[in-house]
Amino acid sequence: MNPDRYAVIGNPIEHSKSPWIHARFAEQTGEPVEYGRILGTIGGFEKDVRAFIEAGGRGMNVTVPFKLDAHALADSLTPRAAAAGAVNTLAFDANGVRGDNTDGVGIVRDIEQNLGVKLEGARILLLGAGGAARGVVLPMFDRKPAALTIVNRTASKAHQLVDQFADAAQAAHVRLSGGAADTVEAGAYDVIVNATAGSLDDALPDCDDASFGPGSLAYDMMYSPQPTVFMQHAQALGARAADGLGMLVEQAAESFFVWRGVRPDGGAVLRELRKILTATA
Ligand code: ATR
Repeated sequence: MNPDRYAVIGNPIEHSKSPWIHARFAEQTGEPVEYGRILGTIGGFEKDVRAFIEAGGRGMNVTVPFKLDAHALADSLTPRAAAAGAVNTLAFDANGVRGDNTDGVGIVRDIEQNLGVKLEGARILLLGAGGAARGVVLPMFDRKPAALTIVNRTASKAHQLVDQFADAAQAAHVRLSGGAADTVEAGAYDVIVNATAGSLDDALPDCDDASFGPGSLAYDMMYSPQPTVFMQHAQALGARAADGLGMLVEQAAESFFVWRGVRPDGGAVLRELRKILTATA
């Protein structure tokens, strides 16, 4: 039997770990999955996707810079993809192209299952108000935190997110607020997530030192072989710090589940990947 075909599309794409991760998932679950990588054409995303469908492709992961193109291309969107305004998972079937977003579930699962921090009743500080931040809000509400504060360099964008998610916050009984760095609640937060693009150029996002304490988990959505400036800052203030490698593995696990209906063990694959990356760093 020929395996079903999947791929990750992005530009650049050569360093993507997704093919390795999905190969491990396929092995682990025995699912007949073949997973490749496609260098997407800037300005030609739709053509690339249609060509993959023509060639028998069943689904795709979408990464930088095509998540908004994928959102625009999809015939239908899951509620979490619609709320995120971005798509990282495409599934192709008789009903057309379905767009989903597994990034938010990925970070939530990494925090709760791999790092062992419960979000129920937690006070969460979310730094950033771009696409990455927007995608994690609903999956976090699902875990029933006590409070979510959104802080952004451009305060108006944090206010926009607070407006967008006000009804959902009320329904989930979450205290939602946001604005510039000085809008944080007093005292240390349980979880602080860096969803800004700051780590890409070694910039520490504006945040109050009092938000970090020995009981805080400081989570950088970015992965880099060395601790990011945000992680170092948090550790210097006594907090525990984590990078985004687990989120990468867990969003992949959720995509695999979306496509195959089978949930792989992300934790096992994360431990293996971490070992390989540490050995080659
Ligand atoms: P993404 O999809 O990665 O979220 P984005 O939508 O462009 O990308 O959003 C980038 C986020 O990182 C924004 O919240 C941005 O802050 P502004 O809205 O003020 O631009 C934030 N960001 C980028 N560089 C930053 C820096 N050096 N310090 C603090 N925040 C930064």
